[in-house]
Amino acid sequence: MNNVLSCQKLYKSFNQGGVELNILNGIDFQVAPGETVSITGSSGSGKSTLLHLLAGLDKATGGEIIINGNDFSKLNDNQICAIRNQNLGFIYQFHHLLPEFTALENVLMPIMISGYISEAKRNHALELLNRLGLSKRTKHFPGQLSGGERQRVAIARAVVNSPSIVFADEPTGNLDNQTSNHVLDIFFQLQEELKTSLVIVTHDNEIAAKAAKRYRLHDGKLINLASITG
Ligand SMILES: Nc1ncnc2c1ncn2[C@@H]1O[C@H](COP(=O)(O)OP(=O)(O)OP(=O)(O)O)[C@@H](O)[C@H]1O
Ligand SMILES: [Mg+2]
Repeated sequence: MNNVLSCQKLYKSFNQGGVELNILNGIDFQVAPGETVSITGSSGSGKSTLLHLLAGLDKATGGEIIINGNDFSKLNDNQICAIRNQNLGFIYQFHHLLPEFTALENVLMPIMISGYISEAKRNHALELLNRLGLSKRTKHFPGQLSGGERQRVAIARAVVNSPSIVFADEPTGNLDNQTSNHVLDIFFQLQEELKTSLVIVTHDNEIAAKAAKRYRLHDGKLINLASITG
C-alpha cells in the first residue's frame, strides 16, 4: 500500500459537439517508490490525457487516483494544486519555461509558489543547474538557450522540490537524437540519485526501454509489455 501513485478504473471521455469520445477506458496502474515506468502508444491514443489526469492537471470522468495517500477525488482544486507543487514534477514536451524569467528563476518557480526562497534552496537550484551542465547559463533567459539547454532547465525545475514522482510527456520530443540521448542520460542519472519515481511518455521505443516497467496505451487500456515479451 505504499505506492507513490495508484490509479484504478480510470476513465476519461471528451464530449465534442454532442459526440462522446472515450479516450481512457478503465486504467489500473501503480508506481512504486523510485520506480521508472514508460508509456508508449500511437498519436492520439491518450498518453498526454492520461499523464494530465495522473498529475492532477485535468479531471477524470471516473475512477480513482491516489498520490502519496491523497485521493484526488476527495480534494478541491487548491488542495490538488498544493499536492502537485510539493509532491509532483512535470516536464512538458515543449519545456513551458517562463520567457521573462532567467534559467535560475525558472528552476526556483515551484519554491517561489510555495513560499520563501532560502539561501539553501537557492544553492540547491544552482547545484542542480550545475549538475545539468548549465552553471554558466543561470542568468540566461529561455530565448537565449538552446533547445537541449531549455529542456535541462525544465528537468531541474521538475526536481527542485525533490518530488516523489516526476511525469515527463515526450521530454525530448523536439530535440535531435544526440541531444535527446544526452538529456535523457542526465535525467535518468538524476532520477536514480534522487530516488524519485518517473513516468515517462514517449513514442520512441528506445527511450521506453530505459524504464524498468513498460506499458503501451491501446484502445484506452494500458497493456503491460513485460507480461507479453517476458
Ligand atoms: N480537450 C479535449 N477535447 C476534446 N478532445 C480531446 C481533448 N484533449 C484531447 N482530446 C482527444 O483525445 C485524444 C487523445 O489525445 P492525447 O493528447 O492524449 O493523445 P497522445 O497519445 O498524447 O498523442 P500524441 O502522441 O500525438 O501526443 C485525441 O484524439 C484528442 O483529439
Ligand atoms: Mg501527447
